[in-house]
Amino acid sequence: MTNQLAILGGEPAIQHPMAYFKSMGEDEVTAATRVIRSGVLSAYIGAPGEGFMGGKEVRAFEEHAANYFGVRHAIAVNSWTSGLIAAVGAIGIEPGDEIITTPWTMAATATAILHFNGIPVFADIDPDTFNIDPKCVERLITKRTRAVMAVDIFGQSADMQSLRKICDRHGLKLLSDTAQAPGARYFSRHAGTLADIGGFSLNYHKHIHCGEGGILVTDDDKLAQRLCLIRNHAEAVVKSDNPLELANMLGYNFRMGEIEAAIASVQLEKLEARVASRQHIAEQLNQSLMHLEGLKVPIVSNGSIHVYYVYGLTLDLERLGVSREKIVKALQAEGVPGLVTGYQNLHLLPLFRNKIAYGTKGFPWSSPYCTSRIEYGPGLCPVAEQLHSERFFGMNLCMFEYYPEDVELIVAAFRKVWHNINLLRNLNTD
Ligand SMILES: Cc1ncc(COP(=O)(O)O)c(C=O)c1O
Repeated sequence: MTNQLAILGGEPAIQHPMAYFKSMGEDEVTAATRVIRSGVLSAYIGAPGEGFMGGKEVRAFEEHAANYFGVRHAIAVNSWTSGLIAAVGAIGIEPGDEIITTPWTMAATATAILHFNGIPVFADIDPDTFNIDPKCVERLITKRTRAVMAVDIFGQSADMQSLRKICDRHGLKLLSDTAQAPGARYFSRHAGTLADIGGFSLNYHKHIHCGEGGILVTDDDKLAQRLCLIRNHAEAVVKSDNPLELANMLGYNFRMGEIEAAIASVQLEKLEARVASRQHIAEQLNQSLMHLEGLKVPIVSNGSIHVYYVYGLTLDLERLGVSREKIVKALQAEGVPGLVTGYQNLHLLPLFRNKIAYGTKGFPWSSPYCTSRIEYGPGLCPVAEQLHSERFFGMNLCMFEYYPEDVELIVAAFRKVWHNINLLRNLNTD
């Protein structure tokens, strides 16, 4: 390999495309075939009775997941977006109630709140972990705040100890979107299980998947019951002596199919090994990249075990004097796969800035039930904004099959770019 940057016509550090990670194997084929042969692809019935809680594969998966995560209830759903919506409904959100969350997440975290006409309020993030900053949460609490929705972004738990203290002090529920962090730990417990309701995504891009799916987890029997009702048409099919208890239950079909449940159960067996391999890659990257000037490798907070869905990097632009765009372009030219620049700033999306969730008249913000003055836009979350627009880039560790020799090549690509940083500074890459 020459030392000339590939972006300037030199030989790229990585000369072969990396293989996409293939998650499905013979065990999953056997499981799916067993279900297809049984002829029962879903055993749910949207009416009270035996079929209300789903078929035998769904129940077996739920038992498996409850044991693995160490919770009283694991509830399978057809996507984690469905899970988030069910969680917001289950805690009894009233129109206009506020839920504080992070803008540095996938849109479903916040749009789930809107489904029950709740109001998402965005708190800034911690620049080291990219998770919601508890100090910012506390400042945003109003009379209308009902819950905090933490997100365990990139594979690391949010600061649940601080968030729990804040929630207990103010009588708030704590929810956890742990879509990206199954297998992560927080002071020995599974990330996602310290909230009143938490859960995981099983979509195609995650550590483990079944195509589309999700798992809700809770230790609270009452919340579990409400989650199961919301999952399967709820009020429309359940008789109750106390109908008020069934508020927020317009009824959905959030039911996971039997094939997905059978595959998800096999995948769950593989989670620890898969996470360990990504942790190993991250460790290998850390050892070398931590020595590059002006580059901050992922910081793992005290008591946390990170599962590296994304390997997040931050640039010290003042020290480097080179823009993120130039650096990422140079790394891509060297063949580094799976790079993403920036992440999400949900508070800057048109949906929020223009308040166009339902119709064009600003609903639910314009409803008489929304009594706080809520505005979204630049300046609201300066840490998240600066990371997104200038300093953050990450490597998607779930997308490719990174063999140890590939990781060495990736490290070589980074070293090469850093070795040429002065040259890159003066280069016009546009
Ligand atoms: C943080 C986060 N929340 C929610 C979701 C939604 O999950 P699903 O695609 O299973 O609906 C995702 C999916 O990427 C996510 O990363």
